[in-house]
This record gives sequence, structure tokens and C-alpha cells, in this order.
Amino acid sequence: MFDYKYLIFLCIIFHNFHIIFSCGCYGSKSCTSNGILCNPFQTNDSCLCDCCPPCNTCEQFLKLNCLTNRYTKHYSLSNNQSNIILKINKSMKPKYIIDQTNNNIVHYLWDPCLHRLLPKGIYLTNNTNGIYKLIGRPREKLEKTSFEILFKSLVNQILLVNFTITII
Ligand SMILES: *[C@@H]1O[C@H](CO)[C@@H](O)[C@H](O)[C@H]1NC(C)=O
Ligand SMILES: *[C@@H]1O[C@H](CO)[C@@H](O)[C@H](O)[C@H]1NC(C)=O
Ligand SMILES: *[C@@H]1O[C@H](CO)[C@@H](O)[C@H](O)[C@H]1NC(C)=O
Ligand SMILES: *[C@@H]1O[C@H](CO)[C@@H](O)[C@H](O)[C@H]1NC(C)=O
Ligand SMILES: *[C@@H]1O[C@H](CO)[C@@H](O)[C@H](O)[C@H]1NC(C)=O
Repeated sequence: MFDYKYLIFLCIIFHNFHIIFSCGCYGSKSCTSNGILCNPFQTNDSCLCDCCPPCNTCEQFLKLNCLTNRYTKHYSLSNNQSNIILKINKSMKPKYIIDQTNNNIVHYLWDPCLHRLLPKGIYLTNNTNGIYKLIGRPREKLEKTSFEILFKSLVNQILLVNFTITII
């Protein structure tokens, strides 16, 4: 099977210093959160991120904001499902991550980072093509609440998906 994860090692990013280089993992202290290259022998307290965006962990993305601003592409679930309304104890129809520009399901996502836990009974599942969906049967009522998920995706992109869930 085609393992898309290896693709990140082939892709290139345009660095601060206008040097083009291929993006492997450089180490968790190789850059500042703005993507400024750190001296490997004199790292300091601002050196908290991996220069290669997909190599950062959820903690690096969510707590330290590592390179997220530069590489994040904002996606929404398709318009007609960005405000999800569910009934308690009723199985929900799966909600896929949809590219709003062409209505296609987004492939090749991995390592989702959630800002907030999903409601009890709702899960994010994936398949081998990196297609993620929300499924499940909600177990508790919930007022309209915003959720955000950061995914790693191809070509050094970080994909931010936001939506609301209401459970009645
Ligand atoms: C820490 O390292 C970064 C990246 O090399 C540099 O921009 C910054 O000035 C350094 N800070 C200090 C206090 O040395
Ligand atoms: C959302 O709208 C798209 C067209 O814009 C349609 O293809 C799709 O079936 C709709 N999905 C739902 C869940 O209604
Ligand atoms: C949902 O199911 C749980 C356990 O199966 C039950 O205790 C609860 O009363 C149900 N809630 C509603 C609103 O149906
Ligand atoms: C699907 O998710 C599991 C764990 O949640 C992970 O181990 C696996 O690598 C993922 N598969 C793909 C293709 O991303
Ligand atoms: C997603 O985030 C954008 C920008 O912050 C916001 O304008 C939009 O209302 C959000 N959508 C949902 C469904 O929360």
C-alpha cells in the first residue's frame, strides 16, 4: 500500500532565510515558534519547535503554537454540516472532513489534535487512507459548542477543521 506518511520527507518548504530544503524531522528544538532556525549548539528558551511542521506534537501545536500560523490551512466541514445537531442516544450519520472548495472528502490526514474532548459517545475514526470521520451515539445533552481539530496533512500542511455540535 502507498504509505503517504513518507511523502512528508519528500516535500519542501520555503524557509525564513529563503533557503529551500527538504522537510524531515529536525528535532523538537530546531526552530522557534515562528520558524526561525535555532543554533543546534546554543538553543535557548525560544527554541521549542521542530522546523518541519508535521514533526511537531499536539502539545507543540496547541500549547506552543509551533509554526501553526504559517502552515495552517483552514478547512470546514461542508457548509451543510458545520453546525452538527444530534439527538441524544441516536446514532449519528458519519460526518467526514470535506474540502469546501470541491466537496470532496479529504484524504491523507493523520495525528488529529483536539482542543477539547468530543462529547461522550462521539468518536473520530480513521481508515487506512487517512480519511477521518465523526461517528457514534451521543450520551449527553450539549448546548451548541465549538470544536476544533488540527490534522497533519500532506505537503507540510496543518489542517484546521472547526464545527459546532449541539445535542438535544
Ligand atoms: C534564541 O534563538 C533564536 C533562534 O536562533 C534567536 O532568534 C533568538 O534571538 C535567541 N534568543 C536569545 C535570548 O538568545
Ligand atoms: C451537503 O451539500 C453538498 C452539496 O453542496 C451535497 O453534495 C451533500 O450531499 C450535502 N450533505 C448533506 C449531509 O446534506
Ligand atoms: C439515554 O440512554 C441512557 C442509557 O442507555 C439512559 O439512561 C438515558 O435515560 C437515555 N436518555 C434519553 C434522553 O433517552
Ligand atoms: C489511524 O489511527 C490509528 C490510531 O488512532 C493510528 O495508529 C493509525 O496509524 C491511523 N492510520 C492512518 C492511516 O492514519
Ligand atoms: C470556524 O472558524 C471561523 C474563523 O474563526 C469562524 O468564522 C466560523 O464561524 C467557525 N465555524 C464554525 C462552524 O464554528
